[in-house]
Amino acid sequence: MRKKIVAGNWKMNTTFAEGEALVKAIIAKKGEVKNDVTLVVAPPFTHLTCLAEELEKAGIGLSAQNCAEHESGAYTGEVSAKMLASVDVKYCILGHSERREYYGETNATLTKKIDVALKYGLIPIFCVGEKLDEREANRHFDVINAQLEVLTRLSAEDFGKVIVAYEPVWAIGTGKTATSAQAQEIHTFIRKALAAKFGAAAEQTPILYGGSCKPSNAAEIFAQPDVDGGLIGGASLAADDFIAIAKVF
Ligand code: 13P
Repeated sequence: MRKKIVAGNWKMNTTFAEGEALVKAIIAKKGEVKNDVTLVVAPPFTHLTCLAEELEKAGIGLSAQNCAEHESGAYTGEVSAKMLASVDVKYCILGHSERREYYGETNATLTKKIDVALKYGLIPIFCVGEKLDEREANRHFDVINAQLEVLTRLSAEDFGKVIVAYEPVWAIGTGKTATSAQAQEIHTFIRKALAAKFGAAAEQTPILYGGSCKPSNAAEIFAQPDVDGGLIGGASLAADDFIAIAKVF
């Protein structure tokens, strides 16, 4: 059985006080979620240290939204994987489409980031997904295949630690979700591409769906055989919605 995971990507939202209140509200409702569902939250960097202990006690995973491609040194404004690990961050989102689009992250950057994240024991939540024009041009499989090259070069041992998230760019923050059939089609495609390199290990890789996921559509999407949970943006900023999505399992 693959792990079921519901992760909240807060993006650049919440002051520290708001983030603390959100975590408290999520913890208060966590009992409503089945024990075999792993909850993860990815607050902004500024909140991580202060939230780590409380989340750990509650059995909720703590994730960063990014890490530097370098290990340390003169990189003003960057936060390293080693720093994140040192404050008990367990996961790190990498390759989010917003990072690819606004900060120019490429396979070359992401290769360095994933290596350094794994070196310091962080579990990468590696995002892939096509843009609208790429889907309309029927290039979505090629685009995703190319993005997956960052993973297919990993050792079998490192690959075994990775979580994948499929986030079609046209569905992020747009209110337009992929249909459950579209999600399943891509998730199976991803699993097959990974199995071609890693064999049966790909059966164990959690593949999350992200993009306008909310309580009203999560049940249908998560019911697909290759959808193992969600990476939630907007709806993860309200504890009730985030928990309602996790309760779908
Ligand atoms: P929304 O749920 O706001 O569409 O964002 C999805 C996402 O980008 C999660 O990483």
